[in-house]
Amino acid sequence: MLPTRKPPSGLPVMKRILLFFILAAAVMYGILHGNLWRNNLYWISFYGQTSSVRAPPSYETSGVTQLPPTAVERRNALDSCVLKPAFESLLGIDKIYPFLCANDFIRVAEFHGSDKFELPYGIKRAEQFFRLALSRLQNCGLSNENDSIACRRCVVVGNGGVLRNKTLGEKIDSYDVIIRMNNGPVIGYEEDVGRRTTFRLSYPESIFSDPIHYDPNTTVVLIVFKPRDLKWLWEILGGQKISAKGFWKKPALNMIYKSSQIRILDPSITRKTAYEWLRFPTRFPKKEKPKHPTTGLIAITLAFHICHEVHMAGFKYDFTDRNGSLHYYGNDTMSQMMQNEYHNIDAEQKFLKKLIDKNFVVNLT
Ligand SMILES: *[C@@H]1O[C@H](CO)[C@@H](O)[C@H](O)[C@H]1NC(C)=O
Ligand SMILES: *[C@@H]1O[C@H](CO)[C@@H](O)[C@H](O)[C@H]1NC(C)=O
Ligand SMILES: *[C@@H]1O[C@H](CO)[C@@H](O)[C@H](O)[C@H]1NC(C)=O
Ligand SMILES: *[C@@H]1O[C@H](CO)[C@@H](O)[C@H](O)[C@H]1NC(C)=O
Ligand SMILES: *[C@@H]1O[C@H](CO)[C@@H](O)[C@H](O)[C@H]1NC(C)=O
Repeated sequence: MLPTRKPPSGLPVMKRILLFFILAAAVMYGILHGNLWRNNLYWISFYGQTSSVRAPPSYETSGVTQLPPTAVERRNALDSCVLKPAFESLLGIDKIYPFLCANDFIRVAEFHGSDKFELPYGIKRAEQFFRLALSRLQNCGLSNENDSIACRRCVVVGNGGVLRNKTLGEKIDSYDVIIRMNNGPVIGYEEDVGRRTTFRLSYPESIFSDPIHYDPNTTVVLIVFKPRDLKWLWEILGGQKISAKGFWKKPALNMIYKSSQIRILDPSITRKTAYEWLRFPTRFPKKEKPKHPTTGLIAITLAFHICHEVHMAGFKYDFTDRNGSLHYYGNDTMSQMMQNEYHNIDAEQKFLKKLIDKNFVVNLT
């Protein structure tokens, strides 16, 4: 007869209890690991491709750089809502605080990898311009309004002609946070687009300069594309005369907002939109104009970073009707949009459709 091992029933009670806990821990680990793995698969299926599942290298924090304590606090304040947003998997682990602050923007840039990219998606070689512009701003808080709401319901209002005659104004005004962009007016269009504006994303060529559009409750979020934009902000807030040189269109020559209402968007937000979500190449062929995300898509990315629920309106375009209105205001037609060389509207519409299909956002129009 082969020698048999002593059966485990001989183990003392304490040892058996210990073994039980070790086994339970192993099972728990298996479940958690499986969950993480599922999340990864989910991430893959979102893009319908299996390659480059990992974020671009810029998003992998080396562990050498650490967020300064103030930035950690700001970032934690974004997570004051205990409910998990539907789009959580889209954001990954690293939630970016959306605005740059004068005292620590360099270290925050190092942390997110923005020091490795030149404008428009990073701060490399433009640090001094950022420093100058930020020195004119009073604060970098999330907003001027009393923002004690933990779980923010947000609506991003695009400027699309689809908003015409939909009388969505009252509905739009009912959200905690209303994000608008560029020079999409409120005055005269209240019935269709509402009255309130919490954030307005703009750049020097698109910011309102007519005081009629002034709203004391709005925080202006400046998207910086070139060093000239930062110099413009520094000059205009310093009361200097603005030269229109270096802009692709006449910029605002006077500032209707108080400096306490202005923020500078962290370029990491735009970079994430361009490279991770729209999958733009970091280099375009010489004969092709480099494509950048539209303000609308950047606004949606911003919303994902500060909101718990994101709804959108005014983002649908009817490409079959060349004479249809491009915006809910003015006389521009769809044909102007089709000629646009700086955006990839097709890629953006596909991305938005995915967001809607996955219930990450609710589309009102
Ligand atoms: C902000 O709102 C909360 C709740 O509505 C209120 O208790 C608080 O006093 C407000 N703070 C300011 C500065 O208005
Ligand atoms: C919207 O309504 C106005 C006034 O009722 C009308 O003149 C206009 O043609 C309508 N526009 C669209 C796009 O339906
Ligand atoms: C700005 O906020 C104040 C206080 O909440 C409110 O009375 C006023 O109507 C708001 N103005 C606009 C244009 O939304
Ligand atoms: C679009 O407008 C142009 C000029 O106003 C006109 O000639 C053309 O027939 C219109 N096309 C359609 C499809 O309505
Ligand atoms: C749009 O066209 C109408 C009619 O042709 C004109 O009265 C109006 O001034 C135009 N609006 C703008 C913003 O150009």
